[in-house]
Order: sequence, then C-alpha cells, then structure tokens
Amino acid sequence: MQALPTQGSSLEEPILKVEGLSVIRSGKLIIEDIDLTVRKGEFVGIVGPNGSGKTTLLLTILGILKANSGKIRIYGSKPMSKELDGKISWVSQAASNLPSDLRVTVRELVELGALNRGNMFSRWRDKEKVNQAIEMVGLQDVENTDVGRLSGGQRQRAVIGRALASKAEFIILDEPLVGIDRQSRSSLLKLLDNLCHEANKTILMVSHDLAAIRQTAHRMIYLEESIKFDGETSIFPELTELAELRGIMPVHGEDHHHHHHSDIKNGDL
Ligand SMILES: Nc1ncnc2c1ncn2[C@@H]1O[C@H](COP(=O)(O)OP(=O)(O)OP(=O)(O)O)[C@@H](O)[C@H]1O
Ligand SMILES: [Mg+2]
Repeated sequence: MQALPTQGSSLEEPILKVEGLSVIRSGKLIIEDIDLTVRKGEFVGIVGPNGSGKTTLLLTILGILKANSGKIRIYGSKPMSKELDGKISWVSQAASNLPSDLRVTVRELVELGALNRGNMFSRWRDKEKVNQAIEMVGLQDVENTDVGRLSGGQRQRAVIGRALASKAEFIILDEPLVGIDRQSRSSLLKLLDNLCHEANKTILMVSHDLAAIRQTAHRMIYLEESIKFDGETSIFPELTELAELRGIMPVHGEDHHHHHHSDIKNGDL
C-alpha cells in the first residue's frame, strides 16, 4: 500500500479506498470513475437523487455487485475477502421490509448481530451488548415481540440494533431513516454520532434526508453517476444551489413524487 498524503493527517491505512470505480448494470453506466477514501472515525453522508447510483455504490463496495473497472480496498482487502469477516456491518435499504410472517423476536434479531464464529455456542457473553443495542434503538418495550408485528420504523430500528450489537467497526447504512418518525430520527442520528466519536466506528450512510444528514455527518458526498461534491459538511451547497447546478428539481425517494420548491427547503433530496 502506498502512503499517499491525502486529506486528513492520519497516516493509518484508510478503512475504504475506492479508485477509478465504474459500474455498469444491464448495459447502462451507473457509476462513472469514482474515487473515494474513508478514514477511521469518519461519518460520511452520501446524498443524491433517485437512481443516481447510491445503492449501487454501496453494493459494489460490499462486493455484492461487480465493478467493471477500478479498485476497491477495505482494510486493504478486496470486497468479500475472508479478512473482512465481521468487520463490516450493513443495514440495507430494504431492511425494514422484512416478511411480516417472520417468527423472530426483536431480541433474537439483535442477538444475530452479536453472533460470530467465536461465540456461536456461548451467546451469554454478548448479553450485555445485546441489551445495550436494544436500549440504544429504544425497543426495550417490544424486545419479545415478533419483528413482523412491528411498525416500519420499529423494524428499521431493530435492524440497526442488530448492526450495533456486532463488533463491526465499519457501518454502512442505506436509507436507515426511511419510515422513522422525526423524534426517533434524531435519536438514531445522535446514536450514530456517538458511535463515531466514542466507539471509534466509521460510518458511511446514504440518506435522502439532507437536513438530518447535514446535522450529523462530518463529510458529505453528492453522487450523481460520478461524485459531484466531496467535502466538509459545512461547505456543502444549499439545496437551491444544487438544484441550479443540476438544472432540475430534486425528486424524492420515499414516494417518488415531485416536490414543490417550498418542500425542497425542508431538506429532502
Ligand atoms: N437490478 C438492476 N439491474 C439493472 N439496473 C438497475 C438495477 N437496480 C438498479 N438499477 C439502475 O441503476 C441505477 C441506480 O440505481 P440505485 O439503486 O443505485 O440508485 P439510488 O441512488 O440508490 O436510488 P434511490 O435513491 O431511489 O435508492 C438506476 O438507474 C436503476 O434503474
Ligand atoms: Mg438506493
């Protein structure tokens, strides 16, 4: 590994290093020539309109989708390498769409996160961690309820709880705030923020909620096929500027309808 003096003063090997990444899906260029470096302890937010390639980027980093060109290294290893076992935790965009007949309680689901090869037969070791995770996502009252019987927002929190119970240092989240009410949203963001600052976790999070992500992320990335902005959150352009830059109005993801100009100011992208 070369030790190039990139942004930040850390000489440590980056957690994630993406170079010249391009991804084609069904013959269409979705991601074009992306460079991205994430260092330990960073909280990076990715925003961009529907279909701009955010999920595709995450899936390629995870190794679920194949890159057409370029290079991805996580802790210096290729995606899906055995070395990465247990080091990455992923909360998928569809996480809250668990089947409603799923016979797993909240506690059991979170316990799955704490499960690894080393403690397969002695789960009691992680009980404290599981309790903590359930508490952090505020689901103590429903910990023995089947996940399938929870509301969308509660399910999303349960899935995040599972990620929190794991030892993973690198947490990748795709739209974790969808379907979660305002109040739980801010407590979740605060929780993620604490994980970064106190537990030294590294977070890469995709969200449409620009206002929310702006409050928490240290660094913002605007992705639309290629990276159009990558920098400190404080200098991230205002939405109106972004809309002008792009020549079109942002389209929202949850229900895929066009927003009026006044709605855009609320911070959804
Ligand atoms: N399975 C697939 N096969 C082919 N193309 C796909 C597939 N899934 C997504 N795409 C296309 O890839 C592009 C990027 O999709 P992607 O899901 O990465 O966008 P996104 O930024 O995550 O959008 P959203 O904000 O709606 O979640 C879109 O044009 C989409 O139509
Ligand atoms: Mg997506």
